[in-house]
Amino acid sequence: MLTVAVLISGAGSNLKALLDAAAEEDYPARIVVVGADREADGFAHAQAYGIPTFLVPWSEFDSREAWGAELATQLAVWRPDLIVLSGLMRLLPAEVVDAWSPRIINTHPAYLPEFPGAHGVRDALAAGATQTGASIIVVDNGVDSGPILAQERVPIRSDDDEHTLHERIKPVERRLLVDVVRRIATGELDLSAP
Ligand code: GAR
Repeated sequence: MLTVAVLISGAGSNLKALLDAAAEEDYPARIVVVGADREADGFAHAQAYGIPTFLVPWSEFDSREAWGAELATQLAVWRPDLIVLSGLMRLLPAEVVDAWSPRIINTHPAYLPEFPGAHGVRDALAAGATQTGASIIVVDNGVDSGPILAQERVPIRSDDDEHTLHERIKPVERRLLVDVVRRIATGELDLSAP
């Protein structure tokens, strides 16, 4: 059974999809802990499933490195096989990425390498694109630049705003994320050679 730590910053809809999947008897992964950089609404999903949570508040640290060191300490307690960044809106310091690589994956609401960064949905709309997408990648030390594990196109409608487009991307992300974690757990997907 693959053990997974999930890191979030917000609503945690992708987290909830993983928790729902992991509650199925035949799903080959279990979520052991959920962490966040702020008081995230998504903690409620973890609590509903009785999954432990931890908070490493970004605002209480002087540097990314100090924050990352505490995050690494918390993660080490749970010794997960895989870390999933599921809407964590912080770049991890190189020390954390290097310690866990390639066992850290990230969800992103665009068809990478198009529109990386914190505003993938907004940037796709601003560029006048007619399609965007969702991607699941291995985290490296760049911004959304790691190997792509899965991705799918999502069309942009002429009347889309950031909210409506993101709401159409999210179900695709959830499906891809649940499937990628399953394939990692079964060995179908080898993170060291994606
Ligand atoms: C998701 O769309 C995720 O891809 C995105 O934040 C959203 C979190 O939603 N992450 C990024 O943009 C990272 N650059 P959720 O909290 O409801 O899962």
